[in-house]
Amino acid sequence: MPAAPRVPLEEAEPWHPPPDVARLRADPSFVADGALLYVHVPYCDFFCHYCPLYKTLAPDDYRPSEQARYVDALCKEIAAYARRVAPGRVFRAVYFGGGTPTSLPAPLFRRIMACIRDETNLASDAEITVEGIPTHFARTDCVAELVGLGVNRLSFGAQSFEPTVRKHLGRRDTAEECAAAIERARAAGIEHVNVDMMYGYPGQTLEMFERDVLAVKALGPDSVDFYYQMQIMGTPYRQMIAKARLGSSDAVIPLAGMRARLLDLCSDWLQVTAECFSRTSPVVPRIWSHTFGGESGAAEVIAVGPSSYGQVAGHYYFNHATLGPWQQAIEAGHLPLRGRLALGGRTLALRVLFGSILLGRIPARLAALFPRDLQRRIASWTEEGLLEAVESGHRLSRAGQERFQMLQCACVPPLQAFVMMRTYMMTFEEQRKLLFKDTDLLYARSVAAMVRGSGRTFGGLRGLAYRLLLRLPDRVLEQLVALVRRLVAGPAPDERITLNDRPRASLP
Ligand SMILES: C[S@@+](CC[C@H](N)C(=O)[O-])C[C@H]1O[C@@H](n2cnc3c(N)ncnc32)[C@H](O)[C@@H]1O
Ligand code: SF4
Repeated sequence: MPAAPRVPLEEAEPWHPPPDVARLRADPSFVADGALLYVHVPYCDFFCHYCPLYKTLAPDDYRPSEQARYVDALCKEIAAYARRVAPGRVFRAVYFGGGTPTSLPAPLFRRIMACIRDETNLASDAEITVEGIPTHFARTDCVAELVGLGVNRLSFGAQSFEPTVRKHLGRRDTAEECAAAIERARAAGIEHVNVDMMYGYPGQTLEMFERDVLAVKALGPDSVDFYYQMQIMGTPYRQMIAKARLGSSDAVIPLAGMRARLLDLCSDWLQVTAECFSRTSPVVPRIWSHTFGGESGAAEVIAVGPSSYGQVAGHYYFNHATLGPWQQAIEAGHLPLRGRLALGGRTLALRVLFGSILLGRIPARLAALFPRDLQRRIASWTEEGLLEAVESGHRLSRAGQERFQMLQCACVPPLQAFVMMRTYMMTFEEQRKLLFKDTDLLYARSVAAMVRGSGRTFGGLRGLAYRLLLRLPDRVLEQLVALVRRLVAGPAPDERITLNDRPRASLP
């Protein structure tokens, strides 16, 4: 991909969808799918050690005029994309993610909502979600204000209720505030509260994990997202692990066991996606169904704010990763694009497959669009027992549920798959199995499915490359990835989307 495209905000010419997407858009479910708006709010009151999401401005250097400038730019970006969305599309969902959207002062939040209502065709029953930290939600005025603006879904991170783990993660809020946040939300009439949890920390035992699952269920949220903790290169947490040897090789993380245990412990709840379980509703939140293309496979996702990425008129685009370049581009009258890609059939199919795996089902109608090799892959996963054929297509079997990330890795290019695998597998148990030829054949076969995208045996050059890659120090791997990206995509000056700008204290 060449240098960032310069597209004027006011460009009159609509984006024409490439032929594969145009075909999908001819389907009646395309209009029914509607559109989604994702707003990235890059502010946090504190920086968690593990978090790779783009954010800035801790409270001590909090500057309201800078936040007002951010909102000005955001409103221009929303208006520019709203004009590019196919006519007649109704916005069925808005998602404020971050960062911590509740770090924005109320008047600025009101301005963004007013802009959305003016510029988009927002459904009267739109799902409007705001992410925030429990400390903010535990304040009555915050939730009441959001309800007044039409927000009907809240989501916050609890991550873990183990005091030591919380300290290691760098969470500054408390378990008590998590409970208070849910109570306040209920009292204010919020329809749906979601809580994020993470698992797979170095040093976490199966017992600790079980305590966390039971504790979060006992709080009574409507749904819980359980994320496998990715120890991402460049984050302070990853450095802390290396320095403090947090979770030494004696402290094996029984990851596969945790995933299996999670499915058991949540069997009395409704499974909504591979990661999300709900006490109250089997309905997939629109944020998830739309992000991955919706029922039509081509849903429109406007994503605004630094580091966000969206899909409009068959074009996948990604924004400048940091506030400065993002803001400057908009103020100079351009879309803040770092790159844009017209979706071809294969890329589109892989994106749809990736999302379908998370949602736990591959509708026959979508599978029919896939090229032959992807159809063969689905058949081979079914043969291996990772998928089950059902009337409407395929769904993840129990074995597939336990290893869904591995299937997802098969949907991305090899280098990215390697990096994803390394991220998912950075636990001592997993590494040992790979490096020392553990006899767990099922495990090895799942890893093979991930690397080769075929589900056949793990071997040959790719196997060797992967073993070497696991051994590379982070610094070397980062340089390697940057080099390959540069060869494939050309220079991208602010490519490091993910880093906290301030590493925090080391482990106590
Ligand atoms: C934007 S935050 C949620 C809202 C709010 N900022 C908070 O932390 O409470 C999004 C979620 O991403 C998840 N997340 C962040 N870093 C992660 C990582 N390294 N591995 C897995 N999940 C991660 C966390 O569960 C977090 O709650
Ligand atoms: S997980 Fe922590 S650092 Fe990341 S967005 Fe949430 S509060 Fe901010």
